[in-house]
Amino acid sequence: DQYAAEIKAFATAKADELEAFRIKFLGTKGIIKDLFEEFKTVGPEEKRTFGKVLNEFKKLAETKYNELKETQNSELTTQNSDLDLTLPGDGFNVGSRHPLSLVRNEIIDIFKRLGFVVAEGPEIEDDWHNFSALNFPEEHPARDMQDTFFIKKNNGKDDIALRTHTSSVQVRMMEHGKPPFRAIMPGRVYRNEAISARAHCFFHQVEGLYVDENVSFADLKQTLYHFVQELYGEGTKVRFRPSYFPFTEPSAEMDVSCTICGGSGCNMCKYSGWVEILGCGMVDPNVLENCGIDSNKFTGFAFGMGMERIANLKYVIRDLRLFSENDSRFLKQFTAEM
Ligand code: PHE
Repeated sequence: DQYAAEIKAFATAKADELEAFRIKFLGTKGIIKDLFEEFKTVGPEEKRTFGKVLNEFKKLAETKYNELKETQNSELTTQNSDLDLTLPGDGFNVGSRHPLSLVRNEIIDIFKRLGFVVAEGPEIEDDWHNFSALNFPEEHPARDMQDTFFIKKNNGKDDIALRTHTSSVQVRMMEHGKPPFRAIMPGRVYRNEAISARAHCFFHQVEGLYVDENVSFADLKQTLYHFVQELYGEGTKVRFRPSYFPFTEPSAEMDVSCTICGGSGCNMCKYSGWVEILGCGMVDPNVLENCGIDSNKFTGFAFGMGMERIANLKYVIRDLRLFSENDSRFLKQFTAEM
């Protein structure tokens, strides 16, 4: 009876007190459990009355507990009802594309519209794919044009290297397929140069290759001219200067009229009004033959450009190191671009 009064008087729905209540009466070591133990020991004639009281008592405790638990729950919900569910959620930070990715995607888009596909190859290359097949004779000084990171020797000769250009992908493509080929090869390349604002030990290229019957230097010029109009806008002027590459003959370098100062002279074009953006030429017949292609039947052109250079001109970036330092103050400036 004393307990029954206590139970009836108990009225708080505070979480900790209610829990204490549960343990005291209904817990596995609680009063009710004890009473039931006691119940086993009483004589048969007392069992009836005691049992009845006990059951009622247990019920009382349980109902009380459940009622208070309910109140507690509803109090919790009303307490939280000043939650404003119409408030906008926390924003989360979306990254931005790297400027080199922006430029690569744009270049790919332009050439895709001309029917070029994208080809890729390994960054660790052998001498054959990086040099020999491309008509670099052994011990020829042209190999020094590209300061190479050699990794491994074979039979005492430098053989495995980090590719110095993605022309190696052109070789792989021609070796494994049949003309016509119309592809561009974007990718990272490595050269052993001291790191400064103007040079780095790695950079990114997009090279291109077009091999078919009757491909001419006029096709080369018109393709690259069109590319520049798309990339830098209608009216951008181009000029070709004769050059030398072991794998093309004739070879040229292409300049564009400065996109930053409009040709009137600036730091970027060294006050000449022109900036070199790529090397190009007609694929040397030796290269075609090295790759198993009949050079009497097929001709082709190839070109190669540095993506950093293109990005520098587009976004006026003056230090190459910014591209690989992951400084978020630099990267965030490209958030608005696609
Ligand atoms: N592979 C050359 C380089 O990396 C670029 C190039 C490609 C030039 C194709 C001409 C033709 O310098």
